[in-house]
Amino acid sequence: MIIAVDGPTASGKGTIAKALAAHYGLPHLDTGLLYRAVGRQVALSGGNPDNAEDALAACAFPEALLDEAELRSEASGGLASRVSVHPAVRQALYERQRAFATQAGGAVLDGRDIGTVIAPEAQAKLFVIASVEARAERRYKEMLAQGRAADLAAIAQDLADRDERDRNRAQAPLRAAEGAALLDTSALTREEAIAAAIALVEAAR
Ligand code: C5P
Repeated sequence: MIIAVDGPTASGKGTIAKALAAHYGLPHLDTGLLYRAVGRQVALSGGNPDNAEDALAACAFPEALLDEAELRSEASGGLASRVSVHPAVRQALYERQRAFATQAGGAVLDGRDIGTVIAPEAQAKLFVIASVEARAERRYKEMLAQGRAADLAAIAQDLADRDERDRNRAQAPLRAAEGAALLDTSALTREEAIAAAIALVEAAR
């Protein structure tokens, strides 16, 4: 069984995808990390993330060599969103994601275009959303819990900018796949969101 989990940043899709993978005993790929690694690598090599050639050159770099905490930072997320607009970058990362999705036994992938581009044949497709306010609040608390300085208004603005870029790019824009079940986590606890996701997958398969 392939489970596709798509949605904007901080919607809860990563948490849900991880929980679904544990529940069904399936391997999980967070595809945002691939784009974050490319963005990070462009920055480290002094390239320009808005330049398609610079971004494509960074795709060959193995992301395992980059620090995960660094990749999860807001800065890396912003860089990822910029390199991900280039069709050549999306093409370069396609095969790896496709191979992961179609491995024997199934898989859970989360991202922006899993249900639309990477695995349109997925048996279960979830589109996870939440209000900008709820998402900014979560990110804010997460950062404070990590002992980092955080500015709620700046986080909300960054999320809104990123949504705008992800929704309006020409290739593989963020949108719900045909047949995807919509899950709004704005008012749900982590446990409620996971239970709702499992119920939706059960209904779909
Ligand atoms: O999900 P995450 O916040 O880690 O993704 C970072 C950025 O990578 C997103 O804002 C998006 O621009 C890009 N991305 C993408 N396609 C995916 C996953 C992530 O374009 N499948």
